[in-house]
Amino acid sequence: MFWISKKTATYSEAWKNGFVDIHNHLLPGIDDGSKSVAQTEAMIQGMQELGITEAIATPHTYPGLWNNNSETISAAFKTVAHPFITKSSSEYFADAYLLERAEKQQLIPLKDDFLLIEFAIMSEPVDAIMDVLFELKLKGYRLVLAHPERYSYWEKKLNIFEQLKSFDLDFQLNALSVVGYYGPTCKKMAEYLLENDYYDFLGTDFHTLEQIAFAKNHLFAEKYLKKIMPLVEANQFFSTK
Ligand SMILES: [Fe+2]
Repeated sequence: MFWISKKTATYSEAWKNGFVDIHNHLLPGIDDGSKSVAQTEAMIQGMQELGITEAIATPHTYPGLWNNNSETISAAFKTVAHPFITKSSSEYFADAYLLERAEKQQLIPLKDDFLLIEFAIMSEPVDAIMDVLFELKLKGYRLVLAHPERYSYWEKKLNIFEQLKSFDLDFQLNALSVVGYYGPTCKKMAEYLLENDYYDFLGTDFHTLEQIAFAKNHLFAEKYLKKIMPLVEANQFFSTK
């Protein structure tokens, strides 16, 4: 008989003093997240049980898939009207169209000039994306890249992350990545990025009740708690309370 000593931690520990979530799909009926106000309310309850104290809602704005705009987002925000969701913003798909929207001043930042952006999960962004990011930066936006660890096409090209950081992108870790929800590659990439202190912020990216339950019931290695806690603190910047 032998014992394996494995120290683990949970998100309830990480969030025991509160947490401001800056990435989730709580607004009902406008993307692949919550389907109804009742589901949003149940998700809020689950998030509060985990220790999360407030959230900025970030439905997808993804041309051709989720054609949201400030009107659709603010209408969904009003249907919930729950004090837990302090503000609505969006998770913007990074493409040339995003720049067009920025030029027309149609974007809703997380706070000040902080914009949450994502790349495609299945295919690497085209080189021209760097020009778009550069133009957005020139316009004064501070870009927060959602879940870099989920872009598995960069698994063997980890130097890309150094390039993106030197381009002054902030990185947002998905809470579910380190508990293995998206699979071993994503978990490994998240651990690599945590160990190398690449992350600036943390988000849940919760779409469903099932994901909230997964975060509640799964552990991560305790050594990452000291890497995750500074992100929890950094998110406090987005608090409106
Ligand atoms: Fe998301």
